[in-house]
Amino acid sequence: MRALNNVLVTGGSGFIGSNFIRFLLEKTPEFSGRVINLDVLTYAGNPKNLQDLEEKSERYFFERGDICDRPFVESLFTKYDIDTVVHFAAESHVDRSILEPGAFIKTNVTGTFTLLDASRNYWAASDGARKDGSSLPDMRQDVLFHHVSTDEVFGSLGETGYFTETTPYAPRSPYSASKAAGDHLAMAYHHTYGLPITLTNCSNNYGPYQFPEKLIPLMILNMAEGKPLPVYGDGKNIRDWLYVEDHNAAVWTVMRNGKAGETYNIGGENEWENITLLDALIDIVSEKAGLDAEKIRSNVTFVKDRPGHDRRYAIDCSKIKSELGWKQNVSFEQGLENTVDWYLSNTLWIESVRSGEYRRWMEKNYGGR
Ligand code: NAD
Ligand code: TYD
Repeated sequence: MRALNNVLVTGGSGFIGSNFIRFLLEKTPEFSGRVINLDVLTYAGNPKNLQDLEEKSERYFFERGDICDRPFVESLFTKYDIDTVVHFAAESHVDRSILEPGAFIKTNVTGTFTLLDASRNYWAASDGARKDGSSLPDMRQDVLFHHVSTDEVFGSLGETGYFTETTPYAPRSPYSASKAAGDHLAMAYHHTYGLPITLTNCSNNYGPYQFPEKLIPLMILNMAEGKPLPVYGDGKNIRDWLYVEDHNAAVWTVMRNGKAGETYNIGGENEWENITLLDALIDIVSEKAGLDAEKIRSNVTFVKDRPGHDRRYAIDCSKIKSELGWKQNVSFEQGLENTVDWYLSNTLWIESVRSGEYRRWMEKNYGGR
């Protein structure tokens, strides 16, 4: 088992990263180290996600900065003597990657490279050249770079089959292509430099603190506000939904016990057609918010399909289950209820993420949908 003392979390002010930091500081008694959150705070990063921790935890540190900024990244390795990186920071929304791909290449490819290379430099053992006589220094093996990726790198499934760890990469959107590039760089740093890397590819996460441009929070808020519910194409695309806390428990399991150089798939084993999921969500929201379900249902609007829209994602996660003993703990019913409760009661958070850049971007591209 690894030491994991000074953990640099990138993108810790976003959806999954902020849930991960909360999980690490509040639900892992076996971890007594420090957490350093490196986040540039794009439209998707919200410092309010962790405001309470900032006030009450002496083990939590926030550093605002860009993962592409090499001198700044290096200064953090030195300042905190980083021994673990868990890399969540990314541009993460497929629709944005179609409209503005440049930021995805910069953060997801160049940013990942910058972090990997800074890790390689800082973790090079100081005792000189390799034993084989080449000029590369030995790499410390008591450290870890954990790279968080997506199942979207595997492309699109037909009606049957599952993504496994050996499924060939076939990304189809600028988002998934940029994540695939980051994944390849991470594994290349393992094979070439001996950097201890673990990598996870997970399915669609949902839960509290997700930015309301993604399907589930967007629909909950539009339902509550009586707005149209935009369904892309025929609504029969399938996603495998995973509760964010189950995902983060899996990431932590891999960080502690996963084998360097290995990848692990993480999924919910919970496939839903978008339209069927929407129907279930309408029932929950109408009941909790005291609204008329049929009125909400009348707002379902089929809109033009997303270009290159992947039809189906489904993860085979038997490897992490059998080798590392992880399993999902939260049923979809329970997870959706928690999520709806959270969005219906956190109006201040919603106001804060909707103000500023996000609203301006939505107005420019979608007329404020
Ligand atoms: P998110 O968009 O909610 O958060 C991303 C965070 O990264 C934000 O806080 C943002 O400010 C920060 N960030 C962006 N560019 C940065 C930069 N250049 N420097 C520093 N910080 C930067 O994303 P998320 O949904 O929490 O996803 C986290 C990770 O998980 C991503 O790597 C994503 O590809 C992966 N993933 C997400 C899902 C999902 O369903 N959300 C599924 C599979 C994989
Ligand atoms: P999304 O949350 O964007 O995640 P991803 O594209 O990374 O899987 O979308 C989930 C599914 O919901 C996807 O099939 C696209 C669809 N979708 C809609 O039908 N309407 C919407 O407004 C959004 C945002 C997504």
